[in-house]
Amino acid sequence: MSAKEPILSIGGLRCSIAGQQVVEDVTFDVPATGITAVLGRNGVGKTSTLRGILGLIARRGEVIFAGERIDALPTHRIVRRGVGYVPEDREVFARLTVAENLALAERQRKPRRDFVDALFPDLVARRDQAAGTLSGGQQQMVSVARALLNDNRLLLVDEPTKGLAPKIVTEVADALAEASKTVPILLVEQNLEVVRRLADEAVVIGGGRVVHTGKAADILADDDLTRRLLGVHAEAHR
Ligand SMILES: Nc1ncnc2c1ncn2[C@@H]1O[C@H](COP(=O)(O)OP(=O)(O)O)[C@@H](O)[C@H]1O
Ligand SMILES: [Mg+2]
Repeated sequence: MSAKEPILSIGGLRCSIAGQQVVEDVTFDVPATGITAVLGRNGVGKTSTLRGILGLIARRGEVIFAGERIDALPTHRIVRRGVGYVPEDREVFARLTVAENLALAERQRKPRRDFVDALFPDLVARRDQAAGTLSGGQQQMVSVARALLNDNRLLLVDEPTKGLAPKIVTEVADALAEASKTVPILLVEQNLEVVRRLADEAVVIGGGRVVHTGKAADILADDDLTRRLLGVHAEAHR
C-alpha cells in the first residue's frame, strides 16, 4: 500500500436500524495519517456511520480498510484487523476499576501500557478506583485508553468531548493529538474549536448523506457553510 492510499474508503454506505434506513448514501475516504473529522447536526447519521463501518448495524455498500473489503465481515474480525472504537457516551464498566477496564480491552500479547500510562497519568493514579466514580473527562480517558492499548491501524472516535468542562476538553484533545501521531483517527466532533485544532480533513453529513468534504480549516473558515450545514456560527467558536 502506498503512503497516499487512504486507510479507509467508504462507497455508497447505507445503514439501517430495525429496518429503518438511518444512513442513505455515504461516500468518503479517510487518509492514512492525521485526524479526519465527521461533522453534522444531531441525528444526521454520524454515529450510525461509525457503527455501520464496524458492522454493529446492518449495512450495504463498500467499505475498504487497508486495501481490503470489510463490509461483509462480522464486527470481531474487523476489530481484529486493527479498528479501534471509542463509542459515544464512553461506555466504561462503571463498577470495575480503571485497571480492570483497561485489562479487559487488551487483545494483544504486548499491550501498549507504557504509552497509555504516559498519556494519562491521571488514570495511573486512579487505577484502583471504580470507573463509575470518575469524572466524565476521566471516563473519556479510560475509553480512549482502551482503544490505544492495542496496535490499531485506525481509530473511530465518537464525540469524545461531549458534555465535558472546557479544561477537560483541552486535555482530551491533547491526548487525541498525541495519539494521532501513531494512528489515523476518524473523529465525530461537535466542538468546532476542537475540530479546528485537531482535524486535517472534514466530512460533513446531512440527512444520511455526505454534503461536503474538504480541508477542515476551509470548512470552518466558511461562515455561511458552517451555519447552513452545522447550524452554528463558526465565528462564535474562535
Ligand atoms: N436505536 C435506534 N433506533 C431507531 N432509530 C435510531 C436509533 N439510533 C439512531 N436512530 C436514528 O438514526 C438517525 C441517525 O442517528 P445517529 O447516527 O445517532 O445520528 P448522529 O450521531 O449524527 O447524531 C437519527 O434519525 C436517529 O433518530
Ligand atoms: Mg451521535
